[in-house]
Amino acid sequence: MTLEVPEPAPGDSGPAEGRAESERGLFITFEGGDGVGKSTQAALLQEWLTARGHTVVRTREPGGSEVGVLVRDIVLHHRGEIAPRAEALLYAADRAHHIETVVRPALGRGADVIQDRYLDSSVAYQGAGRVLGRDEVRNLSVWATGGLLPDLTVLLDLDPAVARERLEADDKPFDRLESERSAFHDSVREEFLALAAAEPGRFLVLDASRIPADLATDIQGRVQSLLARPAPTGSVGDAD
Ligand code: TYD
Repeated sequence: MTLEVPEPAPGDSGPAEGRAESERGLFITFEGGDGVGKSTQAALLQEWLTARGHTVVRTREPGGSEVGVLVRDIVLHHRGEIAPRAEALLYAADRAHHIETVVRPALGRGADVIQDRYLDSSVAYQGAGRVLGRDEVRNLSVWATGGLLPDLTVLLDLDPAVARERLEADDKPFDRLESERSAFHDSVREEFLALAAAEPGRFLVLDASRIPADLATDIQGRVQSLLARPAPTGSVGDAD
């Protein structure tokens, strides 16, 4: 079977909403290993955008919709083996529903969407860390989302050993993926960095060992430049 994979378009919120490009909100994702501080930075960015009069929808994958909460429970808490293709499809199913019912409608209303994890997590975790190829995992997500790419992806990069110390200090039980061996987390980190190197225009890579306030300032600077950017003239759905 061949999936019809649409050309991904940054910030493409799809033709369904029928709004001009300039009226659409920004789609910003946070990526990185477990324990790197994504939620802290997402919250700080939400505060910053809200203070500037923006409407912000803060969400996450897996689990950003009602259906997604059920999928999240399977992928993170199922005891025992999940076949790699089944795992990739579960994340893709969560993503398809979430993008269709939460993210595209929000962008179409003009809200900015700040999201913990998106398709890069699938490529890094299911593609690199496990047995599936990076392209097939990415194509699955591109198909699932109708080709929606973020305007900006912030990659918080941190040595997995340091991230692990942070998680242990939190004293929460580890989920299925957090419990993976350290070689797995090393290859996830490498894969994230490779993804960022391949798409420098979409990614902002930051050293997550820096203090949170400084990281937030760098992120705000990048978002500010996106806000100042003139609206593209191409029709909705055009790839950049
Ligand atoms: P996360 O919500 O960041 O976990 P927590 O709430 O414990 O901080 O992510 C859950 C896990 O799911 C994380 O280990 C990465 C993994 N994951 C994938 O393997 N593939 C995916 O496509 C996504 C979105 C997450």
